[in-house]
Amino acid sequence: MNSTTLLHATGLQKSFGRTPALRGASLTVGPRERVAVRGRSGSGKSTLLLCLAGVLLPDAGGVTYLGRRYDAMTADERARLRRREMGLVLQHGQLVPELTVLENVALPLLLEKVERSSAALLAHEWLARLGVAELADARPAEISGGQAQRAAIARALVTGPQLVLADEPTGSLDTVGADEVMAVLLEATRSCDAALVVVTHDNRVAARMDREVSVEDGSTEPAGALR
Ligand SMILES: Nc1ncnc2c1ncn2[C@@H]1O[C@H](COP(=O)(O)OP(=O)(O)OP(=O)(O)O)[C@@H](O)[C@H]1O
Ligand SMILES: [Mg+2]
Repeated sequence: MNSTTLLHATGLQKSFGRTPALRGASLTVGPRERVAVRGRSGSGKSTLLLCLAGVLLPDAGGVTYLGRRYDAMTADERARLRRREMGLVLQHGQLVPELTVLENVALPLLLEKVERSSAALLAHEWLARLGVAELADARPAEISGGQAQRAAIARALVTGPQLVLADEPTGSLDTVGADEVMAVLLEATRSCDAALVVVTHDNRVAARMDREVSVEDGSTEPAGALR
């Protein structure tokens, strides 16, 4: 790890009951770096992402964000760090069903005490950039999987994060939609100087990143050092 490291994960092990999900995974991400994470279904990609976000703590190994160790922080401190510094696009069920699409996107801003009307304005702008502004007043149950994915990406970007962690963000989109959404994701991360870690099965998405890490049976290859 050096002074330009944003995120550093090393020797991560994580089991769910008797199922090992991670067995010594490591990944280092520099500021503004874009990394594709690939691997077969069940190889541990989502678990790795949740550990990188500090949602899950590993059983062994550790993660630091700008030199701060997650295991030395409380769950509240990690949640606050996530809200302030990160945009997280989860693989499943990421929108709050009771809230409208606009309220979902505005939520991270409201939690950071941004004034209601400014939060709504920003949320609207991001929904428009993702091409789903007309869905602002809909509830998550009333929109398609691809539309929900776009809204979830808007929500991840609305705070101007330093690090975006996205788990198959284009998985429910057709080719044209995936290209469109990736273009927004890349442009948005570039404009706020954010780093991007994307789990993807899509060769074309991976080709647009700076480097690729593959996950196999819970281990990363290459070991994740900066190039
Ligand atoms: N919450 C959980 N409870 C129990 N087992 C889990 C849980 N999350 C993941 N696993 C198991 O851990 C292993 C890794 O799962 P993970 O979701 O990280 O894989 P993945 O690479 O993201 O797969 P996919 O490409 O299908 O999304 C799998 O064997 C999975 O069944
Ligand atoms: Mg997954």
